[in-house]
Amino acid sequence: MVKINDNVIRERIEQLRKIIEKYDYHYYVLNDPLIDDYEYDKLYHQLLELEKKYPQFYSQFSPTQRVSEKNIENFEKFSHNPRMLSLENTYSDREILEFDKRIKTSVKDNYTYTVEPKIDGAAVSIIYRDSKFFKGLTRGDGNIGDDVSANIKTIRELPLVLNTEYKGELIVRGEVFFTKERFSKLIEKYPFSNARNAASGTLKLLAPKEVARRGLSIRIHTVITDLASTHTETLEILKSFGIPIVEKYYIAKNILEVLDIKEKFKTDRDTLPYETDGIVIKINQLYLRDIIGYTSKSPKWAFAFKYEPERSITKLLYVSFQVGRTGIITPVANLDPVYISGSTVKRATLHNFDEIERLDIKINDHVEIEKSGEIIPKIIRVLNDKRDGTEIKISKPTICPSCGQPLIQYEDEVALRCINKNCPAQIELSIIHFCSKKAMNIENLGEMMVKKLLQYDLIKTIPDIYRLTKEKLFQIPRIKEKSANNILNSIENSKKTTLKRFIYSLGIKNVGEFLSEKLAEVFDSIDELMNSDYEKLKGIEGIGDETVRNIQMFFKNQGNINLIKDLLSCKIKIEKDKKSEVLKGILFVITGTLKNFKRDEIKNIIIENGGNFSENVSTKTNYLIMGENPGSKLDKAKKLKVKIISESEFLNMLGKR
Ligand code: IVH
Repeated sequence: MVKINDNVIRERIEQLRKIIEKYDYHYYVLNDPLIDDYEYDKLYHQLLELEKKYPQFYSQFSPTQRVSEKNIENFEKFSHNPRMLSLENTYSDREILEFDKRIKTSVKDNYTYTVEPKIDGAAVSIIYRDSKFFKGLTRGDGNIGDDVSANIKTIRELPLVLNTEYKGELIVRGEVFFTKERFSKLIEKYPFSNARNAASGTLKLLAPKEVARRGLSIRIHTVITDLASTHTETLEILKSFGIPIVEKYYIAKNILEVLDIKEKFKTDRDTLPYETDGIVIKINQLYLRDIIGYTSKSPKWAFAFKYEPERSITKLLYVSFQVGRTGIITPVANLDPVYISGSTVKRATLHNFDEIERLDIKINDHVEIEKSGEIIPKIIRVLNDKRDGTEIKISKPTICPSCGQPLIQYEDEVALRCINKNCPAQIELSIIHFCSKKAMNIENLGEMMVKKLLQYDLIKTIPDIYRLTKEKLFQIPRIKEKSANNILNSIENSKKTTLKRFIYSLGIKNVGEFLSEKLAEVFDSIDELMNSDYEKLKGIEGIGDETVRNIQMFFKNQGNINLIKDLLSCKIKIEKDKKSEVLKGILFVITGTLKNFKRDEIKNIIIENGGNFSENVSTKTNYLIMGENPGSKLDKAKKLKVKIISESEFLNMLGKR
């Protein structure tokens, strides 16, 4: 008897979950509510009550489970497979035509383009398994992102259970953002300067309840899993699964049609509920994408066109001076706040004093400013006819605004510099740089925390970070056991690092991420780099004379030598960055359950060793790795005569047995 009763309740619970998901979809995605709020709340509460009374029917995919009451401790890392790429972009029609010309050199078949809005949001990757939400990840560095599932689940537009019985993994990618309407409400309460930063900041909050309160949105524009033969069909399939896709996409028969659509969309985009900064043009026929191929950063089959940035007129209130990490002084224009393309602009960079002279800009001038995408707003001209005699000349500072030491200007430079090695602003910025994500990646030592450590005199130099203790950290108000442990753990973890990161973290002038990687390839250790001669450095591809001089000067400076010695004495272990290419150019597919690896582990191993991985067998597949209970991929591989290997044969390929 009890059993029948149980079944009835289970069915009712499942039915309620389905109905609520459906109402959510109509309300949030289609903007077409099926019932009024009162009816909806009644159903929702009925479900809540039943779930409370019958906890045996708990499901993490229930609409009641979208918002976790618990805070997140920290975000786990998760690899993207395939990598999350970016797009080449342009502002010019000519480059769009050139893009099409390039396509024509590798494609002889007929093809069409899709044109979609380029959403100005934060990129995410969403994974469903067997049609249920599995993970939501931030882009991170493109290879590895943060698992922000608990925050993504709060987005009511995104179904937790798909309206399909799709088996296996479904990977989709898109943008998370605040709608224009939502953002205008939020800025009444929060000090956000633009919608995109607000969205990416919100995604990284540790409190899903707060994330839910802010109300993020999502649209999907990319599908990794093979579902159909064209991009647009794939999008429609997603839509039928209940996934919110980019609205307003177009199919263009040729590049001239793309240009027409681009012009039309320039005004149409205002009717979209979110900010867009351009269009994305993609080849629609999916089989052509692999033929056209990829560069290391972006697909060659897609291109972004950005609309010219918006401009506006405002008044220059005063100029302040900022000290950079290397002592360069940058004048900053402080403006009468003005709202342009989705955000309030209060400041603009003036680069240097030459720029001030070139623009002939004075305090109280009316100026035209321009803002585009991520670029800091800049002043493009002064409106001379608006001058009324109240304008004041901007004078060059003579002392550093941070340390008060006299500034100097080298003969061959336009920049003013503070050369005081003990300048607090420079020390602060060097430490922030050292801890940053691409440098030593000390996760819990962000800008705010570094500022606090300096303010409480707990550190004076970079190596002091490695001498922090719990007792010292407790001197900062509100730092308790848990956060102190987190900080100390992330400092400890950073001690195991790579040569590339270590070089980059030193903040040598002109040595950015890319050059650090090159140096780490050419030199075996930091000692070797410190003692390198001119010829060896000069031999590195793309390195100029000035950079060689900077590197050599940096390592001749006794202060820097002491810094490196001090860091190494703090037990920093630098490993040479390894790059295996044993699987280069080989495309793998996996079927069945593996003995030694989880799916993600083996995918990572393939990618780390230079190979490629795909979800589906095709004529391009080189090997199918077969585990226990293989699925239909095995039949397809046999049909296409794809080589089938076991797990141990795969290990042999890696040189491991
Ligand atoms: S397709 C391989 N479509 O813009 C990358 N991206 O500037 C494929 N974006 O990283 C991306 N709207 O995060 C694509 N309709 C759209 C998009 C879009 C916004 C973002 C995306 C990408 C960035 C590149």
